[in-house]
This record gives sequence, structure tokens and C-alpha cells, in this order.
Amino acid sequence: MNFQIKTLDWAQAATLVADALLVLVPEQTALPSSAKDPLSLTLRQALAAGDLSASAKTLVAYRLLGVKAPRVVFVHVGEGGAAALRQALASAAAALKQPNVKHWGLVLSLLGQDEAAALQPVMLALGDATYSYTHTKPSAKARTLSKVTLALADAPAAKVAFAQALATLRGVELAKEWANRPGNHATPSRLADAAKALGRVAGFSSEVLGPKEVAKLGMGAFMAVAQGSAEPLRFMVLHYNGAPKSQAPVVLVGKGITFDTGGISIKPAAEMDEMKFDMGGAASVLGVFEALAHSRPKINVVGLIPSCENMPDGLAVKPGDVVTSMSGQTIEVLNTDAEGRLILCDALTYAKRFKPHSVIDVATLTGACVVALGAVRSGLFASDDALAQALGDAGERSHDLCWRMPLDDAYAEGLKSHFADLGNVGGRAAGAITAAKFLQKFAADMRWAHLDIAGTAWRSGAAKGATGRPVPLLHQYLLDVASGQAGL
Ligand code: BES
Ligand code: MN
Ligand code: ZN
Repeated sequence: MNFQIKTLDWAQAATLVADALLVLVPEQTALPSSAKDPLSLTLRQALAAGDLSASAKTLVAYRLLGVKAPRVVFVHVGEGGAAALRQALASAAAALKQPNVKHWGLVLSLLGQDEAAALQPVMLALGDATYSYTHTKPSAKARTLSKVTLALADAPAAKVAFAQALATLRGVELAKEWANRPGNHATPSRLADAAKALGRVAGFSSEVLGPKEVAKLGMGAFMAVAQGSAEPLRFMVLHYNGAPKSQAPVVLVGKGITFDTGGISIKPAAEMDEMKFDMGGAASVLGVFEALAHSRPKINVVGLIPSCENMPDGLAVKPGDVVTSMSGQTIEVLNTDAEGRLILCDALTYAKRFKPHSVIDVATLTGACVVALGAVRSGLFASDDALAQALGDAGERSHDLCWRMPLDDAYAEGLKSHFADLGNVGGRAAGAITAAKFLQKFAADMRWAHLDIAGTAWRSGAAKGATGRPVPLLHQYLLDVASGQAGL
């Protein structure tokens, strides 16, 4: 999908050669009565007649006199907030999904001052509404929309916002694509190949460690999860260098369980297929690197992705087994289904060598987080108030929301073990928080945050599929750090 922005007034928008013209109409639309161009004439009448309003959201016209594009869709976007824009784009995309509509003209200029801020929500919503998964379904209709011209009142003023939105969209699409691929097509090795390819194309370095190197590092917790699988584990290290080497990097850690059966503590069969999305954190880290390749901020970023399968097997780790993590802390694996924290804890220990500015791990970590926050907000846990604030703000501004959860030490009580320094589960109560408390034990002396994306990384049901979250949040955070806006 190619995007471009153009400064076009109403009369010019009517002359745009496209297969369809989509006009976003906000609640407060004051068209000068002097405007006599064909779009204004139609719109003014439609508004006056009540054929376009908050309750009559779309109006489709065909071959409007004086308008080059054969199809014109007026969409009412209410106050123009992100949710309304998303809704508007979804219904417009549904109205325009015929294969001969390849080029859209999207008129944002009625939004006035808000047009630049609307670019990211509009482009992400458009990406979502037209995304088509084809990798293992060749019979699926590929996305037909190939070109989008965004008509703005002042395109030069929106240049930076446009570049950021486009970079974010590219990142979201990459994350979605990888998270959607089934476990047998998105193995740790294939994920590592994707990481390498990303580095080659974008010109940043990526290293991939295998079982031998990981054993040498002493990542006993990570290895314990991988040992039940015939697929060899991979540990990916990506470097984006946009600033001098002396500048401390932001480290992103993504949970890359390419399939989570639960291991010996096996999960029930119903909906177990969804555990192919258990590498959503890893996919989002890859997505952020893709976004960085486009936005190129002045910052250093390290991406760490521990990746393996969690399988039951004769050699699999068993409940009660005690393993030694890279940090030296021993862990009693009381439940083999709490595997995410086992692979992440070793990656967090590895992160220390970078003396990071901040470390953020991203993981589809707990069903408890889905119960607590649903699909609306990701769970945010942070040991540092300023970091929590910066991530919360980045979430608001990118419309990729999160919500801070507590980390009182009292929540760590349940992690005590008779046979090891700590157990890997803390009982049913407050499951998302005890999981975060576990991770925190490996993040001491670092400015650390954890995003539990179990509820936000994918949608279940009829529209089953990855969302690409939290790429927008993380990309925004990195841009904020680079520009000094993060307040850190
Ligand atoms: N990958 C799951 C978490 C998950 C569950 C994500 C449902 C999305 C939807 C994770 O590895 C897991 O199994 N967590 C357990 C932890 C428990 C054993 C303490 C869980 O949430 O049940
Ligand atoms: Mn699990
Ligand atoms: Zn898992």
C-alpha cells in the first residue's frame, strides 16, 4: 500500500483521479455558502437534509457531476476522535471492497487543525480494515487497495506526522503478519530468519544465538522451556543505532513462544490454537524495528527475543524441577505453563550488559491480565514512575492504550519456594501482578517496565487475528525518548 499526502482544496479534490474519494466529515463542518465546487454543493445539501449525521454515518454517491473519482463516500466522523475515525474507515472500507477500487483519495481537510493528528489513526484503521492474511491461505483475496492519496489542507505542515504514521503502520503490519502465522510456519528459526532479513534490509545488525551459545551464557530457565521441543531455540539480538555509541540504549524484550501447549502442565484443547499468538511480544519487537527503519530517530535501541516452543515430551521440564537462571537465582518450575517468565527472566539478565536507558519487556504473559483489562488496555507494570508516565503518555498519544498496575512487594509472597530461590507461580489471585513481580526480580538496578499484552495482541472470534499492538505505543515511546519529550 502506497501512501502520499497532497495539499488539495475542495475544488482540487474533485479533480483527483482515483477509483474512490472518501470524505471525512466532522460534526462541526462549516462550509462557506459561497463554495460552489461539486463536493461542497453535495455535502451542504446532505447535511441540511439530515442524510449525513451522527446517526446517518455514510453516504455513497456514484458519478457525481464534476467529480473525477466515480465513487464518493462521505463519512461522518463525529468529534473526530480516534475511535470514531477507526469506525468510519472500517465502514468505508466495507463499502469499497470491490476489486476495481485500487486507489483511494482520502479527504481529511475538513478536519482542519486536527488533520495531522488524524493521520495515524486513519492510516492504521485503513491498514486494519484492508489487511488480508494470505501466507498459508492462497485462496484468500489479497488486499486490493494499493494506493492512497491523503488530501490535506496543509500537507507540508503534516509531513512529520505523516512519516511517523507510515513508519508505525509498516511496523504494525509486520508484527501482525508474523503473529498470525501458525506455529509450524513461525518457528523460532523462521522468526530468527525474519530478524536477520530485517537487519539486512534496514541496515542494522542482528545476531542470532542457538542452543550452544545460550547454554554457554547459562540461560538455564530459557533452556528448560525449550528442552521439550524438537525445534531448536533461538535468541535474537537486534541493534538499531541512530545515536552515538556512548548513548545508553533502550532495550526491548519480546516473548517469543512460537507455540504454548502449556508443557507437562498442559492446557485444555479448546482454543489452544490461539497459543500460536504467544510470540506476539516478539512480533511487536520486530515490528518496532521495522518502524525504526522508516522513522530513523536519533536513539539507540536493542531488541532481545528469546524464542522457543513450550511442549510436553519425555525430555520436557516437569513440575517441581529446579533450574538455575542466568542471574544465578534458582527457580522451582511449579507450573510448566508459566513459561513466558522463564524465558524472559534470562533475557532481562542479558539486557544488563547494555547498561540500558530503560528496559521494556513485552509479553502475552497471563490469562489473568485478560480477565483484568480485556482487549482494551495492555497491562503496564513499572518500577519507575517516570518510565510508567512516559509509556502511559505514549499509549494515549498513539491510541494504543495501557493501564498501570501495582507492584507492591506483598504480591511477591506467593513466589516463595521451599526448594529454590523462587517459584515460577504465585497462586490464582492477582496472576498478572505476581507474574510481573517474578520478572522484577531479574530487573533490579535497571529502569524497567513490563507490558502484558495477553488481551491486546490478538482478537478472538469471527475477526480472529493479530492486532500489531503494542507497536504504536512502543514506537511513540522511542520517538519521545529521541526527541527528549519522554521526560526521562
Ligand atoms: N501464554 C500464556 C498466557 C495467555 C493465556 C495469553 C491466555 C493469552 C491468553 C501463558 O504462558 C500462560 O499460560 N500463563 C498462565 C500462567 C499460570 C500458569 C500461572 C495463565 O495465565 O494461565
Ligand atoms: Mn503458558
Ligand atoms: Zn505462554
